[in-house]
Amino acid sequence: MDKLVIRGGRRISGSITASGSKNSSLPIIAATLLNKNGTFTLHRIPDLKDITTFTQLLRYLGADIAFSDNTLKISSRNIKNLQAPYELVKKMRASIYVLGPMLARFGHARVSFPGGCAFGPRPIDLHLMAMEKLGATITIKTGFIDATIQGEKLHGGNIDFPVSSVGATGNALMAAVLAEGTTTINNAAAEPEIETLCNFLMAMGAKIKGTGTTELEIEGVKSLDAIEFHNVFDRIETGTLLAAAAITEGNITIHDVEPEQMKAVLKKFVQAGCTVDTTENSITLKSQHKLLPTDVTAKPYPAFPTDMQAQWIALMTQADGTSHITDKVYHERFQHIPELNRLGAHIEIHKNQAIVHGPKRLSGTKVMSTDLRASASLVLAGLVAEGTTEVLRVYHLDRGYEKIEIKLNNLGADISREKYNEF
Ligand code: EPU
Repeated sequence: MDKLVIRGGRRISGSITASGSKNSSLPIIAATLLNKNGTFTLHRIPDLKDITTFTQLLRYLGADIAFSDNTLKISSRNIKNLQAPYELVKKMRASIYVLGPMLARFGHARVSFPGGCAFGPRPIDLHLMAMEKLGATITIKTGFIDATIQGEKLHGGNIDFPVSSVGATGNALMAAVLAEGTTTINNAAAEPEIETLCNFLMAMGAKIKGTGTTELEIEGVKSLDAIEFHNVFDRIETGTLLAAAAITEGNITIHDVEPEQMKAVLKKFVQAGCTVDTTENSITLKSQHKLLPTDVTAKPYPAFPTDMQAQWIALMTQADGTSHITDKVYHERFQHIPELNRLGAHIEIHKNQAIVHGPKRLSGTKVMSTDLRASASLVLAGLVAEGTTEVLRVYHLDRGYEKIEIKLNNLGADISREKYNEF
């Protein structure tokens, strides 16, 4: 297994280009299943473990895929297999994204039921409800979701989500674009990743109104084209790199980003005492003074994202006072806290809120990654900890951060990747 060995105390400074978004790549790749005869060229796809896993799933279904230099060429012309097996789905919950497009194109799909995850229950009831509203019959047997439609095609329907779900909105969109008639989605997720999916589907020929809002209207079309598409930047990678500069009293410029999508996060960095300047496509952050304690509440977009919650907690261990970090999306996403406390932080958990008492001098030791963003928070802590921090089970980090130690080393960090055996 790999671990990251971080020698702390170095300032992060310099400029860097953001990678493409992981969480928009996944639904876009799934949406290529909707096309019968062409080849897609997708640019700015990050080279990540999750992308490898997802392309492995699409290959298993029958897609032809070539991936190099962040460009993915994919054709779903020869899909033969309509079943997503447990072995692949268990590696990544986002595998559920194949359900909507397969059902829309073939009228049938079988997807292994995804299990729990490191930060609590993650149900898929809303995905299934959306498919049923569009005319699917769902049965769950022997660990599989079996979705079928009676006639030739799905039909339009009114989908009213009781809670905002990125994945269920994505699946509903991908099913509705080829359905007969009009579909409305109320309380749709408005995350930039869903807006990007809408833009992608519209470029294929889909008819969608309300892109970027919580009310979507989709008029089904008969077929969709294969296209060339440029993916958007990864706003969570960007936020994590900004936090790396903020926690080390550094300064950073990140290029090829859309600052507009990061308003809630940038506002919090300013409140925490950092200077933030933006242009149309770059963000510069300088952190020269002691950080100020800053409360955040993670909620659906456009609020502060849950995927930045763990990193913010790490940052606040260095702030001069007490901060409250509440997660209203995932109430149990706090596996990083015991590990941060092992580094010397003083963080308490009350229900879905972390109370961070700063500033605390952190000192390096071995810590364990438990999920993607938890790992990112441990890396941030390692950057300011005295001595050496070893972040174990770094495969979690590799799911969602492209060349993270290379990027951070180019910005002044001292991180090496080493092999180790777990006993
Ligand atoms: N929910 C339900 N039923 C469902 C689906 C979701 O109750 O059928 C609930 C969830 O339990 C949660 C809330 O709805 O409380 C929101 O979950 P959502 O469906 O939006 O999450 P997701 O689509 O499974 C995506 C990202 C996550 C990110 C969340 C929230 C991808 C591949 N994953 O997950 O990203 O945390 O949205 O923004 O896009 C990450 O990148 O580290 C990550 C976990």
